[in-house]
Amino acid sequence: MTPPDTANENGPTGEAVERATARAAELRDEIEHHNKLYYQRDAPEITDAEYDALLAELRDIESEFPSLSTPQSPTQKVGAAPASRFPQVEHLLPMLSLANARNEDELRGWEQRLRNRLASEGINREELSFVVEGKIDGLAISLVYRDGRLERGVTRGNGVIGEDVTANLRTIAEIPTELPVKNPPALFEVRGEIYIRRSDFHALNEQRAEQGHATYANPRNLAAGSIRQLDVELTASRPLALWSYGVGALEGVSFETHSGALAQLREWGFPVNDFEVFNGIDAVAAACHGWEERREALDYEIDGAVVKIDDSELMRRAGVAGREPRGAIAWKFPPMEAVTTLKEIVWNVGRTGHLVPQALLEPVVVTGVTVQHATLHNEVDVVAKDIREGDEVVVTRAGDVIPRVVGPTAAGRDRKGRAAPPAPPSECPACGTPTKKDEGSDWTYCPNRRGCPGQRYQAFKHFVSRAAMDIDGLGEKQVALFLELGFFNELSDIYSLADHREALLQLDGFGEVSVDKLLASIEASKAQPFWRVLFAIGLPGIGSVNARNLARRFGSIDAMAAATTEQIAETYGIGEVLAESIAEHLAMDEERELIEKLRAAGLQLAGEEPAAAEGPLSGKTLVLTGTLPNMTRDQAREKIEAAGGRVTSSVSKKTDYVVAGEEAGSKLEKAERLEVTVLDEASLLELIGG
Ligand code: IVH
Repeated sequence: MTPPDTANENGPTGEAVERATARAAELRDEIEHHNKLYYQRDAPEITDAEYDALLAELRDIESEFPSLSTPQSPTQKVGAAPASRFPQVEHLLPMLSLANARNEDELRGWEQRLRNRLASEGINREELSFVVEGKIDGLAISLVYRDGRLERGVTRGNGVIGEDVTANLRTIAEIPTELPVKNPPALFEVRGEIYIRRSDFHALNEQRAEQGHATYANPRNLAAGSIRQLDVELTASRPLALWSYGVGALEGVSFETHSGALAQLREWGFPVNDFEVFNGIDAVAAACHGWEERREALDYEIDGAVVKIDDSELMRRAGVAGREPRGAIAWKFPPMEAVTTLKEIVWNVGRTGHLVPQALLEPVVVTGVTVQHATLHNEVDVVAKDIREGDEVVVTRAGDVIPRVVGPTAAGRDRKGRAAPPAPPSECPACGTPTKKDEGSDWTYCPNRRGCPGQRYQAFKHFVSRAAMDIDGLGEKQVALFLELGFFNELSDIYSLADHREALLQLDGFGEVSVDKLLASIEASKAQPFWRVLFAIGLPGIGSVNARNLARRFGSIDAMAAATTEQIAETYGIGEVLAESIAEHLAMDEERELIEKLRAAGLQLAGEEPAAAEGPLSGKTLVLTGTLPNMTRDQAREKIEAAGGRVTSSVSKKTDYVVAGEEAGSKLEKAERLEVTVLDEASLLELIGG
C-alpha cells in the first residue's frame, strides 16, 4: 500500500508536495549555509558525509518532484559564489564537477549509461579506455598560460567565476611560471589541485601545538585557507603543493587523449600524479580498489579515485549533464571523519613540560580503524575549539597517523547543560609537582623540566627518534625499560649505556648481536650534525626547521648561548617570544649541565655548516618580502646566503636591505619608514654579481 503522503500512481498528493517543498527549501538554505562555510571561510561545521547526506536528500526530493528542481538549486551548482576579497574573474571554460559512485555497482552503472549515450551518438566500441587517477582532497585551481607565460591563477569558485589568486599561486615553487618550450601554444590552461602533504601538515600542527597555537583541522582546509590569504607572505610560508590533473582552454595545441595531455603536462614540468590507462571497466574497478588500498600510505590525502574516458573526442561527445561531464566519475571513499561522543579528557605531560590533553572517546570506526583515543593537541586548542567532556565531536584521521578531535559538532556545541570547560590539573600527572602558568601565557606546564619522569620519558623518546639522533634499536620500549632499570636518568646516560653491557646481556630479548648493534648505533649517533643535536635536546619551540636555521646562523651551541635575545631573533623564522625562551633555557643550570655532558660524550655541538659564506653580502642582513618575478623565496635566500648574507624575517634598523617583490606588504612599509634600502630582484642580482 502506498503511504498517503508519498507519490502514488496518479502523482504526488497535495500534502506530499507541500511537505517536499518545505523540506527542499530547508535543505537548500542549510546547504547554502554550509557551502559558504566550506568554500568561502574554509571552516566547515559538518563532516563531508553529513554534507553529502543533505545533498542526497535534496536530490532525491528533486527527482521525485521535478517541479521543485530549479537552476538555482545547490544540486545544480558547484559550491558557493566566491567571497569577494579577491578580484573575481570568469573562467575561460567552466570548471566542472564530478558525479559520484559509491561502490562498484554504481561505477558499472555509470559505464553502462555512458555506453548507451555514446551508442545514441552512433559510437559503438567494444571496450572503452579510461584513465584512473587519485582524487586529491585539496583546492581546485586553474592556471592560464598565454604565449607560455603564467598569466593568471584562479580558484574554482562557483565553477563559472573564481577568485584571482595569481600572486599567491606564484609563491608555490612547483607551479612553473613559464612553459619550457621555444614555441609555446598561444593559450594553455592547466587545471589541478593545490594540496598540502600529510607530512608537512603534521609537522606544522606539531609545531603549532608546541608553540601554543590552535591546530589546523585538516590539510584541505589549510591549503584552501592558505591560497585565499590576502597576505602573500603568509601563503608563501605554507608548504603548498600542486597536482595537475588536466587541461582546460587551449589554443595552438590539442590532445587526442587525456593521458596524452597528462604526459605533456609532466614533460613541461607540472607535477602529475601516477595515472594509468585501463581497458574495460573490470580493470578500472580494480584500479579504484588499488587506490583505496594505497590511500593510507600516500603522503597526500585523496577522497576517492577519478575515472575519465581517455579519448578526448568521446569525452566531448558524451557531453555534460548539469555540471558533470558524463565521461568522468569520482569513486568516493569513506570520509576520514566520524562523529562520536567525547567521554573524558585526560591530561599527560609532554616532552617540554606542557600538559597535553587527550580524548577518551566512545569507540568509532574511521576508515576501517576503531578509534577510542584521540589527541586534543594542547590546552589552547581545547579552549579555541570549545571542546568539553560529553560533547558530540568530529574525529578525524585526516593528515595524521594519530586520530584527532576536530571540535564539537554544531549540535554538541549547542547542547544545553554542557560540562564546564576542561581545566588542566593543578599538579603534574606524572610527578605531582604543582603546575604553573606564566603570566600572559596560555600554557600550563610542569616546571620540573629535567626531573619529571613524564617529561623525561618523552624527552628520551624524542632524543632517539629518527628525526633527531636517529638511534636504531633504541625505541619507545627500550627507553621505557632502561628508565625503569635505572640505566637512564638523564639524556647523556645514553652514551654510557656501554657501562651496562653485562646487565643488558641478561635481559630478555637481548643477545650479543643485538647489544653490540645497539651500542654501535649509539656510538654512530655521535656523528650526527650539530643541528640534530640541537633539535634532539628539545628546547621548547625548536623544531627541526628552527634547529637548522639556528645552527646555520650561530654555528655552535656556545655562540648561541652567548647571543642576546635580539640576536637570536634575527634568525630566520624565530620571533621575539621564542628567542626569549631559547635564551632563558640556555641560561638554565640544568640545560648547561646537560650540554656539557653531551659535549664530554663527544656529540657535535658546533656545526660543520659555516656561519656564513664570504661574499659581496658578508655581514649584511636582508629581509625578503612579496613575490619576486623569477625566483622563489627559497632560491633567493640560497643566493643571498651563498653571497655571504643573512636572511632574517623581520625588518629592523639593523636590516641592510629589504628585497621586495610584487604585493609586498607591511615589511616594505616598515623598511620605508626606517629608511632601509629597498632592492628589487634585478638589483639584488646585480649586487651579488649574477
Ligand atoms: S577532474 C570534469 N581529476 O574533484 C572534472 N578532479 O568533483 C573536473 N579533483 O573540482 C575535475 N582530483 O577539485 C579531476 N584527478 C582529479 C581530481 C579532481 C581532485 C577535484 C577537483 C574537482 C572535484 C570534482
